[in-house]
Amino acid sequence: MVPAETDAPGDSAHVVEPPLWEQWAARSAELPQGERLQKVLSARGWGSRRVCEDLISAARVTVNGEVAVLGRRVDVEHDRVEVDGVPIGIRPGLVYYLLNKPVGVITTASDPQGRRTVVELVPDEPRVYPVGRLDVATEGLLLLTNDGDLAHRLTHPSHGVEKEYLVEVEGAVAGGALRRLREGVALDDGVTAPAKVSQPSPGVLRITIHEGRNRQVRRMCEAVGHPVTRLVRVRVGPLRDAALRPGEWRELDPQEVKHLIEAVGGNRPPVR
Ligand code: URA
Repeated sequence: MVPAETDAPGDSAHVVEPPLWEQWAARSAELPQGERLQKVLSARGWGSRRVCEDLISAARVTVNGEVAVLGRRVDVEHDRVEVDGVPIGIRPGLVYYLLNKPVGVITTASDPQGRRTVVELVPDEPRVYPVGRLDVATEGLLLLTNDGDLAHRLTHPSHGVEKEYLVEVEGAVAGGALRRLREGVALDDGVTAPAKVSQPSPGVLRITIHEGRNRQVRRMCEAVGHPVTRLVRVRVGPLRDAALRPGEWRELDPQEVKHLIEAVGGNRPPVR
């Protein structure tokens, strides 16, 4: 970078550098590679190019943590672009649906027996996959996405993403059984990790777990003598939606996607 001016000609110790944002603009304008930021934003649904230029001019867009200037180019594979601190989901075409799965629908992408599947309840294109699994008899929130990396992180045990359930069981649960549910229950695949458990009314439990074992909540309750009669998932990590009726779905908003990404450790390289 050529010094812009000096306040003491001939004295290189007093060189005045141009402001950082000007240096950034100059550097990125020199980059032949990359796409113009407003084009990338527009392609990700942030509005027309003009609207996206306004977002940039208003200093609401950052690239790798630095406020972006008009003319900035970005490498869509490597740069982290955020609007108001929200990642733009730089890979085009990623979608995130939150579904309230009804009873009787199965959590697979296709069923050889022809039963109704969760993917039939959301748009066909682009193709999405359920993140984790709810039993056919379980209701409640299920995330579906084509973001394989995020799906992998959300189901990876190392991240321990919380899932919260409202559980109707047979009989009122006594203190000893509640304590066992909280501290860990011996199942045939090992003792469960500590769980958050409360009983808002007799026979209704609120259980939060961060493991993802097969039929875990049903088996835990059965093991303490209280078979489950109704099971509803009301939260997945940061995601809740009490207004979504069974069978309804909606897209996550950018803040929700951001919170999900944060819940699994942020924008780090993919978990293997
Ligand atoms: N635990 C269960 O037992 N079933 C589910 O569907 C989810 C958690």
